[in-house]
Amino acid sequence: MRIEVVADEHALAPRAADLICDAALAKPDAVFGLPTGTTPLAAYAEIERRVWGRRADFSRASAFAIDEFAGVPWSTPGTNSMFFRRHLRVPWPLHLPDPAAPDPEAEIRAFAGGVRAAGGFDLCVLGIGVNGHIAFNEPGSARDSRARLVSLTPESRAAHAEAFGSLDAVPARGMTLGVADLLEARALLVLAQGDAKAAPVRDALEGAMTAAVPASWLQGHPDILWLLDEAAASRLDSRAPGPAGAARPRAKKR
Ligand code: PGA
Repeated sequence: MRIEVVADEHALAPRAADLICDAALAKPDAVFGLPTGTTPLAAYAEIERRVWGRRADFSRASAFAIDEFAGVPWSTPGTNSMFFRRHLRVPWPLHLPDPAAPDPEAEIRAFAGGVRAAGGFDLCVLGIGVNGHIAFNEPGSARDSRARLVSLTPESRAAHAEAFGSLDAVPARGMTLGVADLLEARALLVLAQGDAKAAPVRDALEGAMTAAVPASWLQGHPDILWLLDEAAASRLDSRAPGPAGAARPRAKKR
């Protein structure tokens, strides 16, 4: 496990874009797993600029969303389908489960099969929720959980109220790749910024591996980089004041 700490969200975006673009440089037909959320927004904008400025090339790559809401048309403001249409206009095949699928459980299972058929994720990018979720694997998600239909927690629904226009408009259920599906990625990049992520980042990195903090399951992954800003890293023991913090044994400061 590697941890890299940058000053703030402004530094995080180009660094995340570097890492994602580098993966396509190393393997032009790379398969990416991608999150939505506010965290990757600036990185996605940077990737768009690089692609349209011919400084990055994803023409042979492909991408898959890692989750989607269920029970609404894809064109509903707030869906992940709409998010990617607005925020990551890169001419690659970007696959999403259909949020209007009549059988969402079958839809997301078939979608996970599509990821495997594509060869699996070379790089899966993740955010972390304030409750420690990854994709829509909410607290209680087991290490061996697979792609499935889930009920969204009140916290997760509240976090999307603005995007959907109101809390009532946020679907109660979502489709997600499971923890085990995400852990199958050959490499993982977790992005976190801001004070609100300091506690879940600490719990995920330094706490026990537990279903109560789904991101803690990531501790078992052999090739994972946590890219954090100072605020999100501020509660890590390795960055606490004093000798251990001064040495910063695990965090590379950029
Ligand atoms: P955020 O969401 O980037 O909007 O904070 C992260 C997540 O819930 O995975």
